[in-house]
Amino acid sequence: MSALDILSFLNSGEWVSGEEMAKRLAISRAAVWKQIQVLRQRGYEVSASTGKGYKLVKKPDLLDADRISCCLQTKWLGRDMRISDEVGSTNAVALSLARDCPNGTVVLAETQKEGRGRLSRPWASPPGGIWMSLILKPKMPLNLIYQINMAASVALCRVFSSLFGLDAGIKWPNDLLIRELKICGILMEVGAQVDRLDYAVVGLGLNANNNLSGFPAEWRTTSLAAQLGHDIDRCELICRILEEIEVAYENMGSKDIYEEWRSRSLTLNRQVRITSAAGDLVGQAVDLAEDGALLLRTGDKLKRVLAGDCIHLRPMQAEAL
Ligand code: BTN
Repeated sequence: MSALDILSFLNSGEWVSGEEMAKRLAISRAAVWKQIQVLRQRGYEVSASTGKGYKLVKKPDLLDADRISCCLQTKWLGRDMRISDEVGSTNAVALSLARDCPNGTVVLAETQKEGRGRLSRPWASPPGGIWMSLILKPKMPLNLIYQINMAASVALCRVFSSLFGLDAGIKWPNDLLIRELKICGILMEVGAQVDRLDYAVVGLGLNANNNLSGFPAEWRTTSLAAQLGHDIDRCELICRILEEIEVAYENMGSKDIYEEWRSRSLTLNRQVRITSAAGDLVGQAVDLAEDGALLLRTGDKLKRVLAGDCIHLRPMQAEAL
């Protein structure tokens, strides 16, 4: 018996008598009271009233390893989970663990002091967000690792839709946007031999209940709380994300994942600017290939772009004005 058993009674939000819980759990009323104190220490607000019992008034917005492992229905993803209050970067922690930990280990933190984004940009990581890195060890050659990102971004879109009814789209290569505003970024870092992947660390930065003040205004970001008008239960969301990523991962490289990734694209048929080490390219995004490449029409040329940062520009006609 643990505080979570008591929580399962209180989750209804109604008054529940101590005697009833004691009876159903075959424990003493003093033991019930003790577990109520444990819940309070963990940030749950529980009212107590003689004659009525206990009532859950407010749940804490904290990453709670017990709650996550109770609701998590994955086979292997997140079965080993490391949660910290503060780290430099969950990706950095995951990279340091990757060689010696099981496939599917997950690293989470309430805040990151040195969160990192793509192209070496800093990633603001205040409390209330989901800053999470997954350690994955698929047996695959290096040229197929784009499939991991594809599967993760499709899985996240599925979660936003099924859990919140939010329609998320993908800005190439794998930023997740809701109503054209960025809600989640993915940063994959790998350890590899010349031709073979040893491990991939997939870092997800998801604006959930956090405020957005640390993000530059030009990034045009949003959060789940801003979209929904209320805070969300991060522990439940983390479970659903891990479950969907596990399913998508096991289907990685399939036509289904590619087609969904392509159909959820917000970049296709847009006028875009691609910034990469090779310089800037401006053109029309005419297709997305199965290997994740963006096909860009610039003047009368068709270019395949495999990596880079993408900015959606206004439509061609407006651009020319
Ligand atoms: C992007 O630039 O869009 C990618 C952002 C990825 C941020 C996440 S937060 C968790 C993980 N740890 C990091 O330091 N970065 C990733």
